Amino acid sequence: MTEAILLAGGKGSRLRPVTLHTPKPMVPAAGVPFLAHQLARAKAAGVTHVVLATSYLAEVFEPYFGDGSALGMRLTYVTEDQPLGTGGAIRSAADALTSGPADPVLVFNGDILTGLDIAGLVDAHQRAGAAVTLHLTRADDPREYGLVPTDDTGRVLDFTEKPQHPDEIVTDQINAGCYVFRREVIDTIPAGRPVSVERETFPQLLAAGALLHGVVDRTYWLDLGRPACFVKASADLVRGIVASPALPGPTGEYLLLPGAQVADGAKLGGGTVVGAGARIEAGAVVEGSIVLDGARVAEGAQVYDSLLGARSSVGRNTTVTGAVVGDDAEVGSANELTDGARVWCDARIPDAAIRFSPDC
Ligand code: GDD
Ligand code: MG
Repeated sequence: MTEAILLAGGKGSRLRPVTLHTPKPMVPAAGVPFLAHQLARAKAAGVTHVVLATSYLAEVFEPYFGDGSALGMRLTYVTEDQPLGTGGAIRSAADALTSGPADPVLVFNGDILTGLDIAGLVDAHQRAGAAVTLHLTRADDPREYGLVPTDDTGRVLDFTEKPQHPDEIVTDQINAGCYVFRREVIDTIPAGRPVSVERETFPQLLAAGALLHGVVDRTYWLDLGRPACFVKASADLVRGIVASPALPGPTGEYLLLPGAQVADGAKLGGGTVVGAGARIEAGAVVEGSIVLDGARVAEGAQVYDSLLGARSSVGRNTTVTGAVVGDDAEVGSANELTDGARVWCDARIPDAAIRFSPDC
C-alpha cells in the first residue's frame, strides 16, 4: 500500500481568469479536470490512498471525485481554513494517513504533468534510505523554480527556492514537485502555522544533516501554472505525447467530448479538445486549444494555442492566439487577440475593437 498527499490548495493566480471560479486542479485539460490525470497516474503506480490538501475553493473537489471508488482508490479531503503553504498543508494532510513512521509517503504538487516513473522514485528512496527523495528535472531558466544541486551520488547539497541572484544559479537541476517523504519526517514540520517546504523545511533538514536524495529524470515534465503551459499540457495529453489513463477518448489530433458540435468545413488539430455543447462553426480553425463546455467559435474565426472558457464565444473572423477567454465572455467579430491576452469572465468585446499592430 502506498499513500500520497496531493497539494491542491494554491490560488492559481497566474491562470486567472480561469481560476476565478475553478481551482487550478479542477480546470479541464484534455476533457477532464487536470487532477483526474494526476490521480489516474498515481493509481497506475500503485497508490491506493490520496489525501487531497485543499484550501482555495475547497468545496468543489469532493462532489466531483467523491470517495475515489470510481477511480479505484481511496480519497480523503483535508481543508485548510487559511492556506498553510506547501509544508503546512503536508503536515495537516498527514493526520489522515495510516502509514507507519518509516513508510514512504508520496507528495505531489497539484499542477505538474509528468511521465515520471512514480514507483521507481519510491524504490530509489528506499534504496537510498533518504529522509526525503525529490524528483528533479532540468530547466533552461531555473528562476521560477527550486534550484537543487546534488553530488554525484544524488545527495542534495542545497535547496534555493526561486533564485534571483545570478550567483545562486549553480546548476540547471530544479525541483520537479514530486517527493517521497519518510513519514516521520513529515511529523517534524510545525503544525498549525504556514510553512513553505521549499523555503523552510528542506533548507532546515539539510542544515541538520538529513539525507535528501535527488533523482534527475528527464521524461516529459511541465508545470501548468501559466496559461500557455496549461494549454500545451492539454494538447500533449490529447495527442498522446504524454500518456494518461484518464483521457476520455482515443489519442489523436483532436478530441471531441460527447455533445460537441463541429460544422463541416471547420478545421481542428494540434491536440484541440472541444467540450460538451461547444460549437465550432463552418470555416473556423481551432489548433492546439482548449474549448470548454458550451463555448462557441463562429464562422471563419481562428483560435490557436488558447483556452476558451465555458460558454464563452469568439465572433466571426476573429483571431485568438495564445490567449485566455474567461467563462461567459463574448468576443465580437473581427478582433485580433494576441499572445498573453486575457479576456475576463463575462466581459463583452465589441466587433472590431481590438487590433494587433506590430509597428506601434
Ligand atoms: N493545500 C495547499 N495550501 N496547497 C498549496 C498551498 C497552500 O497554502 N500553496 C501552494 N499549494 C499547492 C499548489 O496548489 C500547487 O499544487 C503546489 O502547492 C505548488 O505551488 P505553486 O504555487 O504551483 O508553486 P510554484 O509552481 O511556484 O513552485 C513549486 O513548484 C515548482 C515546480 O513546478 C515549488 O515546489 C518549486 O520548488 C518547484 O520547482
Ligand atoms: Mg506550480
